[in-house]
Amino acid sequence: MNTPILDFVNNYAEQNTLRLHMPGHKGKEFIGNEKYDITEIDGADVLYLNKGIILESQENARNLFKTGKTLYSTEGSSLSIRAMIYLASIYAKSKNEKTTILAMRNAHKSFMNAVAMLDADVEWIYPSDDDGLISCKIQADELEKIILSLDKKPTALYVTSPDYLGNIADIEGYSKICKKHNMLLLVDNAHGAYLAFSSKLKHPIMLGADITCDSAHKTLPVITGGGYLHISKEAPKIILDMAETAMQIFASTSPSYLILSSLDNFNKLANDFKNKLAKAENAILNLKNELSVIGFQFTGNEPLKLTIMTKSYGYTGDEIAAYLLKNNIVCEFCDKDFLVMMFSPFMEENELEKLKNVLLNLPKKSVNFENPPKLTKTKKVMSIKDAIMSPSKEMKVCDTLGMTLASSSLSCPPAIPIVIAGEKIDENALALFKYYNIETCRVVLD
Ligand SMILES: Cc1ncc(COP(=O)(O)O)c(C=O)c1O
Repeated sequence: MNTPILDFVNNYAEQNTLRLHMPGHKGKEFIGNEKYDITEIDGADVLYLNKGIILESQENARNLFKTGKTLYSTEGSSLSIRAMIYLASIYAKSKNEKTTILAMRNAHKSFMNAVAMLDADVEWIYPSDDDGLISCKIQADELEKIILSLDKKPTALYVTSPDYLGNIADIEGYSKICKKHNMLLLVDNAHGAYLAFSSKLKHPIMLGADITCDSAHKTLPVITGGGYLHISKEAPKIILDMAETAMQIFASTSPSYLILSSLDNFNKLANDFKNKLAKAENAILNLKNELSVIGFQFTGNEPLKLTIMTKSYGYTGDEIAAYLLKNNIVCEFCDKDFLVMMFSPFMEENELEKLKNVLLNLPKKSVNFENPPKLTKTKKVMSIKDAIMSPSKEMKVCDTLGMTLASSSLSCPPAIPIVIAGEKIDENALALFKYYNIETCRVVLD
């Protein structure tokens, strides 16, 4: 597959041109890669006007991901999420409806910011008691019961899959229900761009999602900030037609060509990535099995992630993360209950071997730990938009009982909300803040 953006940028860098255009570094070396950092000069195309090399590269990506439209983001999934909610709002408006999103409660805070900006109504689906805060494992038949119980049919279902711990939702099942009830299916697939190439699982677009956001940088060999907005071939025409408009409303007018080049380069790498991925998925499964034998327990079924339920091995996630750090291994995420490690097909065999040996050397212990408080339903007193747009003040959480949260989301570490803006802070929320070491928040001023 060709790489028109990368080739253009490399050619320009070679020519030693007198750059009387932005950026201010003029291609001279300050941190080292400035000569590849260009702006939308003649021939470089304009992101979301897409008539030249960016269009050609996005077409390559569209073919790889088998979508109806694929657009690049140089601002991660956060940008694509804003575009998704905008497109859902346009879809609702095309049917003369107000936008209501039925969303799983483990949504990332960028979703909260998007619904606030677009003033969409949200109906939350809470996780069961066993799920904890970071997951929300709802069966498809349960979902249908929830939809039928609502006074007003939502515009769209919003699902985070994979979630931060590596759980994959039943996107195929959800899609059937969404189609039956004439709802869009929006999937936050920030952690699952690689699923398009997996030998074990499928990308949500292949399973019936209408729109997904993918953070290419989270699981593909793409630099930080690189992402996609994918739209299914079967999505309503208005959504396919307005995708560029949606992205350009929220995006910077100065996209990073380093990131665009990296996204472009992945199209060429994709075949190699796919071949190596199958091997990596098996290697990670083997590692999981070997660690299970000595007593490690895991959650999640995502093939490029290992999530240890650390307490069952006698440690908090933070303790195992500190032990790994002493061995020069840095994991993706840890809290009191979990330790998340993310892998890539481009990792060397000896790197997995090193991790295995370090974990095998950690003795299993038996410790009685406190359990996290359960997430209970909080009381909504105003919309997310009204709360965020209200004058607010920062307070110690211990003094906020009964007050209304104004922060766009008060998140436990992976940016998943405990309380949402516009909701009252109750005793249970205070217990959760304590458990997750959240000390301050902003509350709406009376
Ligand atoms: C589930 C989820 N959605 C969205 C995002 C935002 O992605 P990005 O950082 O690429 O903007 C994240 C980031 O961690 C995430 O975990």
